[in-house]
Amino acid sequence: MLEILYPGWELPGPSGLDTASLKKLWRVRRSSLEIHDQSGVWRFREILPEIPIEQIITIKEGNTPVYELPHCAKSAGVDQLFAKHQGMNPTGSFKDTGMTVAASFARQAGYRWVACASTGNTSASMAAYAARGGLHSLVLIPDGKISWSKLSQSLDYGAITCQLKTDFDGCVRVLNEVVQRMPVYLLNSVNPYRVEGQKTVAFELLEQFNWEPPDHVIVPGGNLANSSAIGKALREMKQLGFISHLPKISVIQAEGANPLVRTIRETGGEKLVPVQAETMATAIRIGNPASWKKALRVIRESEGTVEQVTEIEIALAKGEIGAEGIGCEPASAVTLAGLKKLVKQGFVKASERVVLILTGHALKDAEFTLKFHRGDLFVGTPLESQSKVLQSQQRAPLVLEPRVDAVIDLVRAAEDSRKKD
Ligand code: F0G
Repeated sequence: MLEILYPGWELPGPSGLDTASLKKLWRVRRSSLEIHDQSGVWRFREILPEIPIEQIITIKEGNTPVYELPHCAKSAGVDQLFAKHQGMNPTGSFKDTGMTVAASFARQAGYRWVACASTGNTSASMAAYAARGGLHSLVLIPDGKISWSKLSQSLDYGAITCQLKTDFDGCVRVLNEVVQRMPVYLLNSVNPYRVEGQKTVAFELLEQFNWEPPDHVIVPGGNLANSSAIGKALREMKQLGFISHLPKISVIQAEGANPLVRTIRETGGEKLVPVQAETMATAIRIGNPASWKKALRVIRESEGTVEQVTEIEIALAKGEIGAEGIGCEPASAVTLAGLKKLVKQGFVKASERVVLILTGHALKDAEFTLKFHRGDLFVGTPLESQSKVLQSQQRAPLVLEPRVDAVIDLVRAAEDSRKKD
């Protein structure tokens, strides 16, 4: 796997600038009228590969918000909890930050076609950036195993979209052959330019924390590129003198798609344990993650950990994040579910500052949310009896006759039950 390094940083720093000048420059660019300054990725261009400005494909990605989650903090058992919401990117997921760099590189290098295998978000993002940059795009997705809204995005943005009768890992295998035989540029997360763009989330987060590292950063784990990118960013920030120590980076996987957890627990990180992945959090339904070695290094270097969470725990956490008026897709909610476990184990202390990386927007998987609130998510599955714990979060839509009294009676009943609470 390729990784981009920057020998020019040795002295006197990126673009010959010290940390104080860079911090100032990056902040000032937020009020600039230049298009590449308005991107939350390209405003950090001193720490990115050099790409001529006229080749840059941007949809004004990055610059995503940090939200405090007071109710989730209480439910997890910490005093203060923050979410860095990467679902607030233009196509609704963190993939845009990496895609702007890798798609721009593809254009600069003269490619006409780009391609990816995806669980839905990479494909949505790639299709959008290809369309903006005048490139053709090819998407391979597992048939029936991604959310409809993600599939609809890649259709809308004009990609050739193939639903293969296999899982994500099978799509990767097919695509790896295709790119050997045709001049198609591979935009899966093994692409080192994507990792560079995805680094910026950590620079931006630290800027939002006034360059005081939080104690913990918690990331969902699928193909494990995002945790690798965040780790690389923090390592570089330490090297450059932006921060003096790393936050602990912990990776959370779904119990049914837990190759990294098993690799660490069963082989001490020596050898990947691939799994046949199964989870309703389809974005992270990945059994053979490409970037496992990089993620392992990040966890070790930062003294973080790995944890796995059940389908019920994911659904409950997603409901809780939604009830804060924020919302996210199921794969992102593993972070809160994992945090609860890490607090119980004493790995995260109540007084520590924790940031969850929310990777996808709530509308990315509206079907999951509807099934959750209607109480249908686990019907007919072995988990049905355990799913009662979700009832406190469920708000099914109510079908009524079109009468004023019927509506008023409902509101009064709701008010009475609140008072009792
Ligand atoms: N969260 C969401 C919403 C994702 O879409 C993904 C990955 C992840 C977390 C995991 O990130 O792979 O870097 O560990 N989605 C990819 C895709 C695989 O094709 O959209 P990772």
